[in-house]
Amino acid sequence: MSEVLKPTEVELCEADALVERGPAVPFDIVLWSQGARAFALRFDGRPVAYVNRCAHVPVEMDWQPNQFLDDSGDWIICSIHGALYDPRDGHCVGGPCRGEGLIRVEVDERDGKVYWYPSGDIQPAFTD
Ligand code: FES
Repeated sequence: MSEVLKPTEVELCEADALVERGPAVPFDIVLWSQGARAFALRFDGRPVAYVNRCAHVPVEMDWQPNQFLDDSGDWIICSIHGALYDPRDGHCVGGPCRGEGLIRVEVDERDGKVYWYPSGDIQPAFTD
């Protein structure tokens, strides 16, 4: 019987694909056994990533493809009802997300590449 090996890290993109407070890099995941989307941003020099799912209503949030930050560039904004999230940790800071937060995806940057790390809840979506 063969054992299915789960990856401990997944290459996401080149580091320079994430521009400070610029467009996000999207990626497909499996969240709680269902297909979903996630996105990575660079904020305050660090890559951060979250499931693309508002804490108010579980819908995708980008107001334009891969655009998640508001006009100030300081907050992730949901395009549906305007919930605001802190890009540093995904916590709700205003609007109808009621003190909840985004689901974080662990990411790291090394040797010019960004990697993300699957968890018990979040697994890669392989298309092969
Ligand atoms: S669905 Fe995001 S604020 Fe309502």
